Amino acid sequence: MSHLFEPLSIGNLVLENRIVIAPMCQYSAEEGDAVDWHLIHLGHLVLSGAGLMILEATAVSPEGRISPGDLGLYSDRNETALGRVIEATRKYSSMPIAVQISHAGRKASSRAPWEGGAQIAPADPFGWKTEAPSAVPHSEDEDVPLALDKAGLARVRDDFAATARRAAGIGLEGIEIHGAHGYLLHQFLSPIANRRTDEYGGSLENRMRFPLEVFDAVRAAFPPEKPVWMRISATDWVADGWDIEGTVALSKALKARGCAAIHVTTGGVSPLQAIKLGPGYQVPYAQRVKAEVGLPTIAVGLITEPEQAEAIIANNEADAVSLARAMLYDPRWPWHAAAKLGAHVAAPKQYWRSQPREYKHLFENARTGQR
Ligand SMILES: Cc1cc2nc3c(=O)[nH]c(=O)nc-3n(C[C@H](O)[C@H](O)[C@H](O)COP(=O)(O)O)c2cc1C
Repeated sequence: MSHLFEPLSIGNLVLENRIVIAPMCQYSAEEGDAVDWHLIHLGHLVLSGAGLMILEATAVSPEGRISPGDLGLYSDRNETALGRVIEATRKYSSMPIAVQISHAGRKASSRAPWEGGAQIAPADPFGWKTEAPSAVPHSEDEDVPLALDKAGLARVRDDFAATARRAAGIGLEGIEIHGAHGYLLHQFLSPIANRRTDEYGGSLENRMRFPLEVFDAVRAAFPPEKPVWMRISATDWVADGWDIEGTVALSKALKARGCAAIHVTTGGVSPLQAIKLGPGYQVPYAQRVKAEVGLPTIAVGLITEPEQAEAIIANNEADAVSLARAMLYDPRWPWHAAAKLGAHVAAPKQYWRSQPREYKHLFENARTGQR
């Protein structure tokens, strides 16, 4: 029996298997509105048989977008546009869908990767002034962000809560708060970006304060029976940056507040990061969080092979694996993994006839007949 294909509970949400589609920005929205690209892209991913799909970083305000093409959930129009996409996918798939809600902080106002990814100056018609914990740019040659004052913090917190209410309004099953990859909440956690001298900077407790306040606001705004969790970068890969000890402390504090899971990634806060890349390179961080915190833990990063994913779950290194690039490259990855591991997977009835002869029971409930 495959461990990867055993169900997993994240709060009250039951995943049919432990394969999660990682959040992936598409830089294709218009003023935050989902477009037909999202219908096509998400439409094929919900047929993949994964246990959960997490929607791309979705901004809680226009200035919280990484790029002008980021998905948003801060206006009625955004809600209607994304609602249309979600509703369409529901007709053909029962895969639960969560949304990653995000504010990019000082890394906002950027070009899409295929346009080079550089910062867009505030004076550019497509750019805007960014905001952050401190007036410290991501790299020295970039525009200096505005340091958020108390009113700014309250506004951002309220924006997160309002987005959570909109997510509930369109029936999403869960919320992942983006606390990773050098975006706003990670900027508060990391001493590299956070130079504040008030109660939101300095000690670990102070640096965790704003991300925890945001968690509480989102948790209170989202239906209590649905899970809210956080994605955290477990290390900045820079000396004296945010680290695994802080990650464990934050995860414990989140657990005490009702957080349902931790999604463990790394990096993103500094261009000086020295990442040690390799297959499953972030899994040991997830393993540490799982062992010390005891919340359902999702591992991510260069998990590409079914046997590798199976071993991560079987060895108790994580409770679920999330895949990004491998899912784009092979959107039927979970089908192929189920075939290799002798498991079963959900497939749409329209595709049941594609089941290979050698995998007679691959598709759950598959039956075909003719006269
Ligand atoms: C196209 C693309 C877009 C991404 N967008 C996001 C995002 O919106 N939010 C996020 O937390 N990570 C994002 N990531 C990072 C992935 O979620 C994942 O952590 C990373 O790619 C490592 O996993 P992988 O080796 O399976 O690709 C993105 C990655 C890719 C390839």
